[in-house]
Amino acid sequence: SIYADSEEASASVAAQIADLIRERAAEGQPCVLGLATGSSPTRVYEELVRLHREDGLSFQNVVSFNLDEYYPMAPGSLQSYVRFMREYLFDHIDIRPENVHIPDGTVPKEQINEYCRRYEEQIKEAGGIDLQLLGIGRTGHIGFNEPGSGPASRTRLITLDHVTRTDAASDFYGEENVPRRALTMGVGTILEARKIVLMAWGEGKAAVVKRMVEGEVTDSVPATYLQSHPDVQVVLDEAAGADL
Ligand code: GLP
Repeated sequence: SIYADSEEASASVAAQIADLIRERAAEGQPCVLGLATGSSPTRVYEELVRLHREDGLSFQNVVSFNLDEYYPMAPGSLQSYVRFMREYLFDHIDIRPENVHIPDGTVPKEQINEYCRRYEEQIKEAGGIDLQLLGIGRTGHIGFNEPGSGPASRTRLITLDHVTRTDAASDFYGEENVPRRALTMGVGTILEARKIVLMAWGEGKAAVVKRMVEGEVTDSVPATYLQSHPDVQVVLDEAAGADL
């Protein structure tokens, strides 16, 4: 779907998430959300906070799994995704702290494989992801699955692409301060979500959006693997959809 602007688009995504949370709550079931960071989902989170405050939307039945985190990364750091999620969402809603999962950027190197295996297991134990929110990087990454990530990739430690580090440079006051690696759910992990909502705003995303939607499926643009998923909604503003 292409919307006039990202505000209208984000409100519609938030409404869809709110409906799902309430539907699952009415059934006495948890609602498992896969959450993303970056500038793309911020308005969705703001709208969910508003729905919590003004419309009584409760997150008591929500279980969340974030896609990724820089590595290494202290949770208290300005650029950590733990901090981002608190700031935009978790500090303002009634989600149970024990239901929140974000890859831990402090896990010792030698424990990473086991940690990632456990992250996947926790998703399975929660019943799998009902709805996965995604942004897209200019390299065609989803989560931090950079070019070269295949459809069977799982949660793991990856090396960030140069383009991604350039794009993150301003957050870190210089590219040299951007971590070289990150923990991310795999493409395979993401594809197991029952529903996927990918958001992209602005002309800077138009070219990669076109490759994702119309291009050949290839690990040089990992987002193209979404073409094989049965329930993906691509939510764009006019600028991001301009090349389609
Ligand atoms: C980061 C995140 C991705 C996100 C991408 C796009 O690399 N790890 O999950 O999709 O950036 O960011 P933005 O939404 O700010 O354009």
